Amino acid sequence: MRTQVGIVGAGPAGLMLSHLLHLEGIESVVLEARSRKYVEERVRAGVLEQGTVDLMIDTGIGDRLQREGLLHHGIELSFLGRRRRVDLTELTGGKSITIYAQHEVIRDLIRARVAAGGQIIFEADQATVHDVNSASPRIRFRSPEGQACELKCDFIAGCDGWHGVCRSSIPEGALACYERTYPFAWLGILAQAAPATEELIYTYHPRGFALFSMRSPEVTRLYLQCAPEEDLANWPDDRIWEELRTRMTCADGWAPNEGEILQKGITDMRGFVVEPMQHGRLFLAGDAAHIVPPTGAKGLNLAIADVHVLARALAAFIKQGRRELLDRYSEICLRRAWKVQRFSWWMTSMLHCFPDDSGFDRRRQLAELDYVTTSRAALTSLAENYVGLPME
Ligand code: APR
Ligand code: PHB
Repeated sequence: MRTQVGIVGAGPAGLMLSHLLHLEGIESVVLEARSRKYVEERVRAGVLEQGTVDLMIDTGIGDRLQREGLLHHGIELSFLGRRRRVDLTELTGGKSITIYAQHEVIRDLIRARVAAGGQIIFEADQATVHDVNSASPRIRFRSPEGQACELKCDFIAGCDGWHGVCRSSIPEGALACYERTYPFAWLGILAQAAPATEELIYTYHPRGFALFSMRSPEVTRLYLQCAPEEDLANWPDDRIWEELRTRMTCADGWAPNEGEILQKGITDMRGFVVEPMQHGRLFLAGDAAHIVPPTGAKGLNLAIADVHVLARALAAFIKQGRRELLDRYSEICLRRAWKVQRFSWWMTSMLHCFPDDSGFDRRRQLAELDYVTTSRAALTSLAENYVGLPME
């Protein structure tokens, strides 16, 4: 088998890259370890930045997003029992965010790739990358039927997420890794309950952070700060609701609506960046290159920003022989990725309880929340980061 760009991973990064390359007239093959059903149903993030929404619409995959996505013009920060609104649209000159589940983005991308005759090989097992320092790198894998296969490419895109093989195939000395593990996790639930208010609420509480979000007019998404490596068995439904009520109920009586819990999961909180994001003809994008804690809702959007740069860089090289963008891929992406890492760290630090926090730290956090929600300068900074920094 041969293609121009071999892509490992059918997450948002790999599928969007394949879609953007197709629009440039460049052929790719996507290899995905899981089944189509699995990737189309996996519950992940759900907040799309303005730039991600614009890119989906501009490249012809935004119809369902525009029909079913929930357009939000603000978010709320809650502390000391009171909610304060951040008017994203007013503060950013008209930008907003859209609530649309990551697996819906995946479905739209897969449908578009299949309709355009694109090749996605699901259940491709044991992928390994070879000869990335040559002009013809290769990916070996086992087909769903168990046959040994080889995909010859001009370039390889490692879009295989945090646990993927591409990053770990690069010799250790060639990469620098920067990591911060946060001393807590998030317990997330999906509940069959109408969202009790229209916008997301980020809550600071002495017992820990809580987040109110949603997926549709019928489904609420909620998160609680919990211990790292928390065992879900310790969290029967009643305990989850009681803790959510304790942390989220406001002085005016507002609390999330309750309903059947459809899904529960634990999310680690980690910041990680690898430098550079390229080794020979292997380019890393998305979670394969960097992880952000979910507090800023940035992981998916950052993956899309990477492949937007990568698709343009590959097109400039393949179609016009210009290699400047490709040579600068890592530098361009890392510059934005570190700003996103900074924002995610800042939101996380402001809103969570750290195990060694003193009374001083808690008062400082409350002062920061008070400042951020009353200073126009601080509100503007929060808003411009939340709706998304420009994609380069
Ligand atoms: N071979 C083939 N596919 C692989 C392999 C492998 N060895 N290892 C992992 N994969 C697949 C995974 O099954 C997954 O479908 O690669 C895909 C990676 O997708 P994501 O983890 O979604 O990563 P990415 O596309 O970078 O998306 C960014 O943003 O919201 C956050 O973490 C969330 O997934 C999200 C991410
Ligand atoms: C979500 O809806 O899953 C969500 C929303 C905002 C975040 C993180 C996750 O910051």
